[in-house]
Amino acid sequence: MSKRRILVTSALPYANGPIHLGHVLEAVQTDIWVRFQKMRGEDCVYVCADDAHGTAIMLRAENEGITPEQLIDRVRAEHRADYDGFLIGFDNYHSTHSPENRQYSESIYKALRANDRIAARTIKQLFDPEKELFLADRFVKGTCPKCRTQDQYGDNCEACGATYVPAELVDPYSTLSGATPVERESEHYFFRLPEFTDMLKTWTRSGALQAQVANKLSEWLDSGLQEWDISRDAPYFGFEIPDAPGKYFYVWLDAPIGYMASFQNLCDRSDYKFDDYWKPGSDTELYHFIGKDIINFHALFWPAMLSDAGYRTPSAVFAHGFMTVNGKKMSKSRGTFINAGTYLEHLNPEYLRYFLASRLGAGVDDLDLSFEEFSQKVNADLVGKVVNIASRCAGFIVRGFDGQLAAQPSNPALLAECQAAASDIASAFEQREYSKAVRQIMALADKGNQYIAEQQPWTLAKQNPQDPAVQAICSTGINIFRLLMIFLKPVLPAMAIKAENFLNVDALGWSDVDSLLLGHNINAFAPMMTRVEPASVEALLSASQAEASQAAGSSATKGSPEPINSPELIESPVSKDPIADEIEFPDFIKVDLRVALIADAAYVEGADKLLQLTLDLGLGADGEPFQLNVFSGIRSAYKPDDLKGRLTVVVANLKPRKMKFGLSQGMVLAAGPGGSDIWLLSPDQGAQPGMRIL
Ligand code: MSP
Ligand code: ZN
Repeated sequence: MSKRRILVTSALPYANGPIHLGHVLEAVQTDIWVRFQKMRGEDCVYVCADDAHGTAIMLRAENEGITPEQLIDRVRAEHRADYDGFLIGFDNYHSTHSPENRQYSESIYKALRANDRIAARTIKQLFDPEKELFLADRFVKGTCPKCRTQDQYGDNCEACGATYVPAELVDPYSTLSGATPVERESEHYFFRLPEFTDMLKTWTRSGALQAQVANKLSEWLDSGLQEWDISRDAPYFGFEIPDAPGKYFYVWLDAPIGYMASFQNLCDRSDYKFDDYWKPGSDTELYHFIGKDIINFHALFWPAMLSDAGYRTPSAVFAHGFMTVNGKKMSKSRGTFINAGTYLEHLNPEYLRYFLASRLGAGVDDLDLSFEEFSQKVNADLVGKVVNIASRCAGFIVRGFDGQLAAQPSNPALLAECQAAASDIASAFEQREYSKAVRQIMALADKGNQYIAEQQPWTLAKQNPQDPAVQAICSTGINIFRLLMIFLKPVLPAMAIKAENFLNVDALGWSDVDSLLLGHNINAFAPMMTRVEPASVEALLSASQAEASQAAGSSATKGSPEPINSPELIESPVSKDPIADEIEFPDFIKVDLRVALIADAAYVEGADKLLQLTLDLGLGADGEPFQLNVFSGIRSAYKPDDLKGRLTVVVANLKPRKMKFGLSQGMVLAAGPGGSDIWLLSPDQGAQPGMRIL
């Protein structure tokens, strides 16, 4: 049988932020599939890159006082280190800001233009006269035209749910400069996507998409496609459009072309031939692993562009769902936003790889990373089942038989059963039904452990450590372990290397399933995986929480007060409200003041003065999150969104008070006469939720 030729990609992460566990989910899903194909002997290549273009990157570089090129180089190095840490085996990791990508973006654009697929039209857009740039919707805020709530984004109101165009906002302002935007005309280029409706109806039904995804796209296709705006005006960080000075390709035009560019860059350094993979009619398979939020780019624009520019279309696009953490959307204010680098400082990457594998299927369902289940799963399965078989058998072989396995196992039928499971497990991996594969592997591990427990080699060995039965039983156990490790190798590449060292064998491939290890010498057992330490999980969560509140502190405006020179001399508050009677220190310390993170803030129906605050004080004595529900009369001065994610000070031991709306379990501290003049206290940067204030 000839080898399959397969090219695989993961979506290109933006170069304006760190790799987080959502990215890791995608990379691990892809990497398991690629490693599985490689173990099967297929010719499988995995490429990725940083997505380096766009306004956000340009602005961030400006903020940091560096060039966009400096920023994307630094971030790319950070991204690569994070992916390395999670054992992602890219064959190439490139950048969309590369000569290869410029060349393919230009040539594809020119092909589309030659086919009359590009339209030019003048559009009106909001423009920031101070920053001198056109404003994407997310950079415009203003008062909602319907309900008059202030500080709403350019396209919809969070308070009443109204949608509108930025030009309809009352008192609009640019979030970049605060300036009032003006409407300006500009010529934009559009890709004539509607002309591809028939082509896409066929393609989306060709088996290239998951059923749920194809159904969703059918709805879009039936309700009519729109032309796609592919140009942006200077200043922009990207590629200038040929023959259109001052106009740049929109980041999403050149981003998927980055897949080609990364592969071209690999071809230039290897024997791979670009045309074998990208020309129509090639028998090479092409797969894109992506998140469900970017399906339209990959399943509409991308195949349309490729086919029109003379390239093949993807064999399939595999979309996955989103990661949530402890049941909640990954969010900075909740501390459930976990960066890859932070995880790696505290926990073994293979814990997460295994946990993800045990949860991932071929669909687009979201996946919850509950740290309780995570620890339980890793400890029970990997440590308690897989490593356990090896650890309970290895010693008897090494001590009683100089490390030599028996020539005949005690239970060939059990080993044959494990070997026979290989094809089911393989097809589960092939179908991206990893959770199914893991379930089958663990069922075999259970059988192996049960068998060893029944045979009790330790009882036999007590009477005679050289009893051939001990050798045969333990050799069965070691062979089961070896088969399990072959099956798990796509998921646990580092543990597999340790297992190979222990077993004293060459790198295991899938076809090694067909043989057994008999009469062979193994090495002494060394632990291959240790239990998840609860303290490490806690450390990870509080480090993430700390990173998040630092980020919130540095970006919030009301939360980071301007330095003040001296108190106002007119109308001194102390003159109007003299200092209270002296108290003893022991009286003071009865008041338990704590740093609190405002995890959530909401209006209270029927109470025009109150906001309901959910205060997070970190983990409590029982190891569970310690939270207080507090009703606070600060509504006249604060909007819930301004509070979420910032730190404040709470009287944590105030006797709870029953109110009409619920129980209030504390009091946040604020100064000021009232109305809009209320100022909530916040600690300096670095303080952690739960810290006592003295
Ligand atoms: N740059 C674009 C992709 C261009 S591909 C030609 C982009 N970048 S991203 O950094 O926002 O996201 C990269 C990938 O990570 C996407 O597939 C996205 O769906 C995925 N994820 C981002 N957050 C995620 C979770 N919380 N969970 C799972 N995947 C998530 O989009
Ligand atoms: Zn509104």
